[in-house]
Amino acid sequence: MALEQPIAVLGAGGMLGRAVVRRLESEGVRTLAVGRDTIDLAGRIPETVITDLGAAAVVNCAAWTDVDGAEAAEDEATAVNGEGVARLTKACAVGGATLVHFSTDYVFDGLSTTPYTTGHPRAPLNAYGRSKAVGERALEESDADWICVRTSWLYGAWGKNFVLTIARLLAERDELKVVSDQVGRPSSVRQLADRSLALLARGERGMFHSTDGGECSWHGFAKFIAGVTRSNARVEPCGTDAFPRPAKRPPYSVLDTSATDEALGDPAHWHEETRAALRDATEATEDRQA
Ligand SMILES: NC(=O)c1ccc[n+]([C@@H]2O[C@H](COP(=O)([O-])OP(=O)(O)OC[C@H]3O[C@@H](n4cnc5c(N)ncnc54)[C@H](OP(=O)(O)O)[C@@H]3O)[C@@H](O)[C@H]2O)c1
Repeated sequence: MALEQPIAVLGAGGMLGRAVVRRLESEGVRTLAVGRDTIDLAGRIPETVITDLGAAAVVNCAAWTDVDGAEAAEDEATAVNGEGVARLTKACAVGGATLVHFSTDYVFDGLSTTPYTTGHPRAPLNAYGRSKAVGERALEESDADWICVRTSWLYGAWGKNFVLTIARLLAERDELKVVSDQVGRPSSVRQLADRSLALLARGERGMFHSTDGGECSWHGFAKFIAGVTRSNARVEPCGTDAFPRPAKRPPYSVLDTSATDEALGDPAHWHEETRAALRDATEATEDRQA
């Protein structure tokens, strides 16, 4: 991606943000990690902030991501994920920068039995999903040039995520119970960053879905992690009702990624990406201990 102007990354310290920064830097793109001191999605965003940064594009990896916490704080979550995104689109339009934004499978109702297409009607099941849906509408109504990439079940070699949590629990316990009645598509932040930036570089615009290849239940995902880590712990299936949580979870949230796959080719399967994330996490731990 050869650009004279830099690309600004919001939420650069988050799980996906770190992968986006790595990818951009590996391609020699000038990258601006923009912190809350410059853009706080929950606060006022000066309309000229993107112009002042001189960014050609803004990759927004910042969001309120506490799904359960949003149930008791929907206004705060919406201020960041909805109204904050609306303010950001305005600054991007003024600055002539393309906005790459991320959304979620949780904007859908979870009741489908076939993969959700990009045009499927939004009907979120929980407060977080509603707040992200407000952000999507803000993009659609804005004058900015935008790409919105919906994704699901994010994981990577860093950050708080299912793969690292299960790997740790498998090392600590003899048995784990994991829900088997929710099905979705895992997405490694590494692959998501690569594919989202590839869409940007190709000049694609509008709504896309991007996940790893394949699908599974959380139980199937955990069993695979146990295999890769050679754990002897038992991984037993259970129902969602065994772990009551404040926010409702969709039973089925498989995203149809065909538009992205037609543009970029098929994604790597979640088996391959999960193996790579676990390998990278182990190497990072070994490096720290050396
Ligand atoms: N995680 C998933 O499974 C998942 C699934 C589907 C979609 N997504 C979407 O993918 C994107 C990335 O998620 P992630 O899991 O990488 O997020 P994450 O690790 O929780 O990171 C979120 C980032 O947002 C920043 N942030 C939070 N509130 C902010 C505010 N008011 N102003 C500016 N920055 C703020 C955080 O900064 P601090 O570190 O300073 O708090 C952090 O850097 C989000 O849009 C999320 O909705 C995630």
